[in-house]
Amino acid sequence: MKLDSYVDFFRQTSPYIHKHRGKTFVIALDGDTVAHANFHRNIHDVALLQSLGIRIVLVHGGRPQIDQRIAQSGEQSQFHKQLRVTNTTAMQSVKEALGSTRWQIEAELSTGLPNSPMHGAKIKAIGGNFITAKPIGILDGVDYQHTGEVRGIDAESIQQQLQLGGLALISPIGFSPTGEAFNLSYQEVAAKTAIAINAEKLILVTEMAGILEDKNLIRSLSMPEAKRLLKKSNNSAQNKLLDTACSACNEGVKRVHLVSCAEDGALLTELFTRNGSGTLVMQDHSDVIRAAGIDDVGGILDLISPLEEQQILVKRSRELLETEISQFTLVVHPEGNLLGCAALYPIADSHDGEIACMATDPEFLGQGIASRLLERLEADAVKMGINKLFVLTTQAAHWFLEKGFVETELKDLPQQKQSLYNYQRNSRIFSKII
Ligand SMILES: CC(C)(COP(=O)(O)OP(=O)(O)OC[C@H]1O[C@@H](n2cnc3c(N)ncnc32)[C@H](O)[C@@H]1OP(=O)(O)O)[C@@H](O)C(=O)NCCC(=O)NCCS
Repeated sequence: MKLDSYVDFFRQTSPYIHKHRGKTFVIALDGDTVAHANFHRNIHDVALLQSLGIRIVLVHGGRPQIDQRIAQSGEQSQFHKQLRVTNTTAMQSVKEALGSTRWQIEAELSTGLPNSPMHGAKIKAIGGNFITAKPIGILDGVDYQHTGEVRGIDAESIQQQLQLGGLALISPIGFSPTGEAFNLSYQEVAAKTAIAINAEKLILVTEMAGILEDKNLIRSLSMPEAKRLLKKSNNSAQNKLLDTACSACNEGVKRVHLVSCAEDGALLTELFTRNGSGTLVMQDHSDVIRAAGIDDVGGILDLISPLEEQQILVKRSRELLETEISQFTLVVHPEGNLLGCAALYPIADSHDGEIACMATDPEFLGQGIASRLLERLEADAVKMGINKLFVLTTQAAHWFLEKGFVETELKDLPQQKQSLYNYQRNSRIFSKII
């Protein structure tokens, strides 16, 4: 990397460094992530997060490692409804596999050779009997034996260890008050830990790039959207992740990130760049983003008319709005009132599109409504084959600049748009490659 771009990159990450410092993240690595060729890089990235002042709880899984041990013992893995049935022999394999996976992680966290990214990291990985468990019992006549579920999390002890500067490393095994060990789902352990310690983020790292819909990666999902997708999709691995994300969000975790272990640096890209790398599931807005319908015309007119009167937005008649309504996307409060709107116009015979009529209800400014609308329009544009977006604005130049748009000239606008340019309005023109 050239020195200039290195300095630029470093400066661009600084708002994220400030934002994340002192926050607690629960990072869950599934067994495939531990077995992946990128594993040591991913662990080094986790160590870097800790060096940047983020308090880390690392939860690991071990499904492929357990399967392998069970096969080596001459037994067969047994599942019912995709959940392992852990008999006594299998439990022995579970303990061996999770123990050795844990040591592998501890060993990676302990490396510190000069000229390696871990030099000087000095990570203190701390474990303990933080998880109490109970047996799942018998379901549909199937006795799950040593497969358990989380009964409680010793949040106070975990917090104490984080306070002392340690990285809490948690294996998916829990103990009952009778002293019995239970094999737990690492995703359940991670989600319940994030809830119990009031973590800022839960980050689920797997081989999946994130959540896909029609083969397209979804960058962010609100809870209602995540639940809708859950009902619709029959991809069981994806649904399991979505389910975990939803239950964590439901119980107070503000943000759940789904990140790939296979894409080098995906964790850092997700946390330190505007666009991220995977999928973010967010709890913090119960309002909904949706396409506009003909019944929304009145609400849009109420929202944009005052801005049209101040000549901030171009005047649109009711008739024009009615014909163009399918181009509009809205953010709507659960009680139905319109909080924000924006339109995306594909430009014929090109891979260009125009964003227009972006407006947020003045009472709801500064809550990320326009940012979410833009994110949605960009995702929609990608699906439509658009790779360049234009916007004309008189008042929101800096807002678009901060969203990665760059100022451009009239001659760069697609021909058909140039001829419609209103010199009296003298709007500034911005574009963004998406
Ligand atoms: C531009 C607009 C849509 C932003 O709506 P919003 O929902 O408040 O935006 P977000 O919450 O996503 O972003 C808020 C951030 O942008 C900043 N911001 C808002 N409007 C801005 C503007 N006109 N110029 C520069 N920055 C602006 C806010 O200060 C805030 O930054 P902060 O968090 O650092 O304080 C809204 O101000 C608006 O309706 N403007 C009038 C219509 C308009 O000009 N539309 C654009 C032409 S299509």
